[in-house]
Amino acid sequence: MCGIVAYLGHRHAYPILMNGLYRLEYRGYDSAGIAILNDELKVYKTKGKVSDLEAHIKGKDLSGTVGIAHTRWATHGEPNDINAHPHISPSGNMAIIHNGIIENYGSLKEELIRRGYVFLSNTDTEVIIHLIEDIKINEGVALEEAVRMALAQVIGAYAIVVISRASPSKLIAARKGSPLVIGIGNNEFFVASDATPIVEYTKNVVYLGDEEIAVLELDTELKIRTIKNQEKTPYIEKLEMNLTELEKGGYEHFMLKEIFEQPRSIQDSLRGRLNVQKGIVYLGGMGDYEQKLVNAKRIVIVACGTSWHAGLVGEYLLEDLARVNVEVEYASEFRYRNPVVTEKDIIIAISQSGETADTLAAIELAKRKGATILGICNVVGSSIARATQAGSFTHAGPEIGVASTKAFTAQVTILTMLALMIAERKGTISKSRYYQLIHELEKIPEKVKKTLELNEKIKELARKFVSATNFLYLGRGINFPVALEGALKLKEISYIHAEGYPAAEMKHGPIALIDKEMPVVVVATNKELYDKVLSNIQEVKARNGIIIAIVTEGDTAVAKMADYVIEVPDTEEPFMPLITTIPLQLLSYHIAVMRGCNVDQPRNLAKSVTVE
Ligand code: AGP
Repeated sequence: MCGIVAYLGHRHAYPILMNGLYRLEYRGYDSAGIAILNDELKVYKTKGKVSDLEAHIKGKDLSGTVGIAHTRWATHGEPNDINAHPHISPSGNMAIIHNGIIENYGSLKEELIRRGYVFLSNTDTEVIIHLIEDIKINEGVALEEAVRMALAQVIGAYAIVVISRASPSKLIAARKGSPLVIGIGNNEFFVASDATPIVEYTKNVVYLGDEEIAVLELDTELKIRTIKNQEKTPYIEKLEMNLTELEKGGYEHFMLKEIFEQPRSIQDSLRGRLNVQKGIVYLGGMGDYEQKLVNAKRIVIVACGTSWHAGLVGEYLLEDLARVNVEVEYASEFRYRNPVVTEKDIIIAISQSGETADTLAAIELAKRKGATILGICNVVGSSIARATQAGSFTHAGPEIGVASTKAFTAQVTILTMLALMIAERKGTISKSRYYQLIHELEKIPEKVKKTLELNEKIKELARKFVSATNFLYLGRGINFPVALEGALKLKEISYIHAEGYPAAEMKHGPIALIDKEMPVVVVATNKELYDKVLSNIQEVKARNGIIIAIVTEGDTAVAKMADYVIEVPDTEEPFMPLITTIPLQLLSYHIAVMRGCNVDQPRNLAKSVTVE
């Protein structure tokens, strides 16, 4: 998704803006641009990477203490220099950067063309800055009022920052549906799509709310108004993250760093919630809804991508342990299929970024139907965190790699505790079973650390499959969502086609694909279904398939049949996904690196899909 960075203060804007764009690269983009005001409004932009922009503007006059910068993930208009942001107004005296989609830009553009305006790009963004200037000239109002009046005509999602030669000590920021964070320094302001470009300058931030407009002006307190022209008092919060979390810490890629952070991130998800000595599992963020959760007849989980896979693990956990009916819905389908949702339902929205448009829309739909809305998010202050009535933060720390890893295991950790918390209150598991599970849960970070020791072995295995063109991932029971997640990891960073399937389902079609060219990863750690998994493996071997088996340490039966075996530490069945996911993350990572793929920023992908 697009990245926004802006600065207004006493320092040179250029290095702050470029540093900010580099920090936002993980969001995914295909062009970049910058505008700096220093009497003249200088705009430079180019297709490609931030480094291409840097090369493009080398040697140019980049002085100035106020500016805006942007990385664009193309929606309207192909990725090229013209469609890159910032876009300028007809007079050339204003510039805008934008993240989101303006749904009625066509009709607005037609009206502006009718009034004689000419457009250079195919973007919806250029329409906004033309509209703002048209209003400013015809109504003779202040910049912030022109922005407000223009946005009142706009339908869609936006996060924008506007700069103007006529107001050199002012920036106007506004949002609806796309995130914006404002950093407040000592007579200086920072604006960005998330906190990562801000944290090294200030920890005082304001998360702009939907339909809010921020007026940033030198020597003046931050002012916020709504689109409906009501004044809002800015709520200043302290950032939790720190700079070191944003660096690679010696790893070649953020993704590898985040895979290896999982013992710590799972520990952080457990912290303050699991107390084995007292025999307590308690998600404080959902505490006010504990009784509702215990009495719930149905829980609907809405999410996308990897978060949807975590939700599927949650279904197995909640139904098996807490005996509550769970449905896991793709948010993008749920929001449009007129689902049956009542005030008796509990919706749990799962999102790493907290900004996924489809998940946000699913929440709003369920809210309108009276359901209770809880969230499991990784980003404090994110739109989804703010849209839910309560919930739990995963505390996995900033996840920079586009492919989600530590956020997935952190989400599953929260769902595991939720299932245990409800099961213990409802008595759907015996006390002895409950104590057995919480003692084992406490050991998971250590067992994940031990699993990570397989890294070199998995790297060697990856070498054998660098040229593969298709993979099949099979799993049964609670390992079925792990198979789906393993397949997604491989395809999204190595571009190798991969499918996840319930192991037994293979006979209903995919078995036709099996031959000696088809590597089949089987997550074969199941206890109850072990014999069934064995027969699935035999079915693959009988057709010359290549088996890569993930088994628990000491397994012999599967090991005899498989071509390659990865032994992971044993644990209780419900916690297996927290272990079996790790080798699949590493396998995907190493194959993608060996294929020369951009592991942290895979082609076409964005870290946070803030448009539908
Ligand atoms: C996962 O590796 C992908 N990056 C993607 O599927 C992601 O999980 C999905 O877009 C949902 O994002 P969210 O968790 O931030 O809502």
